[in-house]
Amino acid sequence: MSITFSPEASCFHLQSSDTSYVVRLVKGHYLATAYWGRRLDSWSDPSSPPLVGRAFSPSSEPGDPGFSLDVLPQEFPAFGNGDFRSPAIQVQQEDGSTITDLRYRTHRIVAGKPTLEGLPSVYVEKDAEAQTLEITLVDELIGLEAVLSYVAFSDFDALTRSVRLRNTGSQRLRILRVLSASCDFSGADMEMLHLSGSWGRERHIFRRRLAPGTASVESRRGASSHQHNPFLALVSLGTDEDSGDVWAMNLVYSGNFLAQAEVDQFGSTRMGIGINPFEFAWTLAPGDSFQSPEAVLVHSHAGLGGMSRKFHSLYRSRLCRGSFRDLPRPILLNNWEATYFDFDEKKILSLADGAAALGMELLVLDDGWFGQRDDDGSSLGDWTVNCRKLPGGLEALARSIGKKGLRFGLWFEPEMVSVRSRLYREHPDWCLHVPGRHRSEGRRQLVLDLGRAEVRDYVVNAVSSILRSVPISYVKWDMNRHHTEAGSAALPPERQKETSHRYILGLYDVLERITRSFPHVLFEGCSGGGGRFDPGILAYMPQIWTSDNTDAVARLSIQYGTSLLYPPVTMGAHVSAVPNHQSKRVTPLAFRGEVAMAGNLGYELDPGKLLQEEKAEIARQVCVYKDIRPLVQFGDFYRLQSPFEGDSAAWMFVAPDRSRAWVSFFRIRFEANSSFPLLKLKGLEPGGRYALAETTRDPRSHGASVNPLFSGEELMEAGLRITGIDSDFQSRSWLLTKTAQQPVRALAHS
Ligand code: DGJ
Repeated sequence: MSITFSPEASCFHLQSSDTSYVVRLVKGHYLATAYWGRRLDSWSDPSSPPLVGRAFSPSSEPGDPGFSLDVLPQEFPAFGNGDFRSPAIQVQQEDGSTITDLRYRTHRIVAGKPTLEGLPSVYVEKDAEAQTLEITLVDELIGLEAVLSYVAFSDFDALTRSVRLRNTGSQRLRILRVLSASCDFSGADMEMLHLSGSWGRERHIFRRRLAPGTASVESRRGASSHQHNPFLALVSLGTDEDSGDVWAMNLVYSGNFLAQAEVDQFGSTRMGIGINPFEFAWTLAPGDSFQSPEAVLVHSHAGLGGMSRKFHSLYRSRLCRGSFRDLPRPILLNNWEATYFDFDEKKILSLADGAAALGMELLVLDDGWFGQRDDDGSSLGDWTVNCRKLPGGLEALARSIGKKGLRFGLWFEPEMVSVRSRLYREHPDWCLHVPGRHRSEGRRQLVLDLGRAEVRDYVVNAVSSILRSVPISYVKWDMNRHHTEAGSAALPPERQKETSHRYILGLYDVLERITRSFPHVLFEGCSGGGGRFDPGILAYMPQIWTSDNTDAVARLSIQYGTSLLYPPVTMGAHVSAVPNHQSKRVTPLAFRGEVAMAGNLGYELDPGKLLQEEKAEIARQVCVYKDIRPLVQFGDFYRLQSPFEGDSAAWMFVAPDRSRAWVSFFRIRFEANSSFPLLKLKGLEPGGRYALAETTRDPRSHGASVNPLFSGEELMEAGLRITGIDSDFQSRSWLLTKTAQQPVRALAHS
């Protein structure tokens, strides 16, 4: 890793292990994107476009009629002085003007990576792990300073970007738009790829060819959302899992965002990501600063798989925090789909007995344990135990569960308030609202205004006092509606458009305080499933409930799409009962287990209702999972077949030293008389000899001494033939173990 400035070439060259990013200083004060791609040893500027005059592109520089910002590939563009494309920044002044003219003033290159004030970010543990370039731009007329930060890492092939604005003048400035990263490409022969969907259908992969005009994904919901993820990738035409160029941006932010790509009149493309300017404005008084969220930038010349593994390794060890970052995640039983709100202590203890007997490690008590909550219409905000359901309180329950050899986990939804609650009666103005307007309810609840310090203190104290008094190892932190009437009683009229961002800053403050006070607790984020599956949440909660949809077929697409950015160790994945509660689909238990074992395995059913053979199958799954858990949670992930492209899916996990791997194949819809699929494996050591032990259908072969043996090269080049599938919803999986033995020419699948 290195960041250098060459005064002769007037350029900054950021190099990480496999990527170069070059920023040019034009005319001594404009910042231009020169290159972002495969690592280069040096930069002599062979490719910058000539700055010649163009019709209807006005001159931006006195005395130079041919120079227009409209054709300059810019790093942090403004609007109103020549560039007609989407700006990265727009600031309103007291005279009403929104023209901003930021010019290079100075820069510095420092070891390490400073933290972002009030916002989560990728971090380093030692200064030697990264270098930071800070370029200071100034608009002298209005007294605005923008410090653009670029970070290159030594051990991760990624860059981060963010912007800090400071009002150095004497007038009040109003930020109307500030993206975290913007970058111009000289071509447009690319596709854009994004993760979109809805509740129960999160993060499906969408791809479309770029065309003149602007294409974007965004959230206006107050949360990053089920509907779109704060991510955008541009890919060269024909890019697949293993080949092609990918340029990706992912925003470390959990609120309203915008990610967009604009193709201009000359076939250049501008890519940007940041807080959504829609319904956003921020007043910057003299002396005040504003910190943008961080964008993570990844380039891969080895296709989407290469991109994903770069995000995965960075996020696993330098975004996620806490004692569970590097620890195996417990296999849990969650009571939600087993009981919904209808439970008492006896019922929960019987679930715990079932979980313990099957080898599980944690019992999670979901919604309904507090206040008067027998359905979703009351008590959010009243975080005191419901003694009718749990007469001994949470302490007695947790102790009894502990005696069964299980850890205890608890559900909270701290950001919300029910209208039917003591908290709402006492503080009706603590929710987001606009005076005189109807307060739209979502799931019969309102959103607490986390921009207010007293509300944050209430939430921190309510959650902390329970975590202090009960032996709790895991918290599921839920959030079940989006924001409406997003106004704050604590803000003056001119600051109302700050409400949504202040909410997110408040949320991060609450999460920071709670997670720092309880580092031994494993926090799992949730928002009606995966409605806030983003890097901002991952910085506090190293795993997230991937979706409320537990149907195994739906989960193949959801988990496959999620894996584009987020490592499997961050995905909560549960086996539930059939018919599935969301889709009514009936799939075999083995298939459900296999899908869930590709994330953090859990169960969401009543073991007491299982047949003996089902119990045996679950006990087997738990046993296999404990063996493969290090691979799934900390290995390298390779996607082999996409459920978006056919009736099957496949993926595999490979140990960092390539000594073991776990591969799974799933057939969704079976066709009579169809061919036998061929699965080309990835990531193995070509010369290594791997013994294959089936882990799905024949538990007796798991760990057996004589297993078929193939070279890594054979498995990757010729592939593994999949047989034995003869109906819908079947799967097969194998554990591969590198061995010193010579190959045995037996068929793995016979
Ligand atoms: C939504 C979550 O995603 C579910 O898993 C469950 O916790 C419910 N909320 C409880 O209300």
